[in-house]
Amino acid sequence: MLPAGITIVIGTLKIHRDPKYYKNPNVFEPDNFLPENAQGRHYYSYIPFSAGPRSCVGRKFALLKLKILLSTILRNYKVASAAPEEKFRLQADIILKRTDGFRIKIEPR
Ligand code: HEM
Repeated sequence: MLPAGITIVIGTLKIHRDPKYYKNPNVFEPDNFLPENAQGRHYYSYIPFSAGPRSCVGRKFALLKLKILLSTILRNYKVASAAPEEKFRLQADIILKRTDGFRIKIEPR
């Protein structure tokens, strides 16, 4: 039982990179989300939109919008980070972000 009034921080970054649920957790692997690979994985192992009765009502809309936006950008531009991922310093805010901003290089394909 949790005491009333306490604050709990859920480390989604750690959950989403847990090798127990994701092979090579630091590698971007969209195939992790193919139905055959997601099947049987713990219900709370992927929670960017929270989970349970108060989870995000805009989840499907947000994912569709993100896919359209990303595919439009990536079909037209090459995007690269100016710093390697190991150098990123992260800041947990309302969203997780880099302390020094998103320094990226964009050039037309
Ligand atoms: C990438 C985009 C988005 C992310 C990562 C996101 C994430 C979340 C998360 C984590 C929560 C739960 C907050 C909590 O536990 O208190 C939430 C709730 C909610 N989201 Fe989103 N969201 C996104 C986009 C959207 C969009 C586009 C809409 C509306 C069109 C939306 C509407 C809502 C609403 C209404 C709730 C409150 C649900 C409730 O309390 O019953 N979200 N969202």
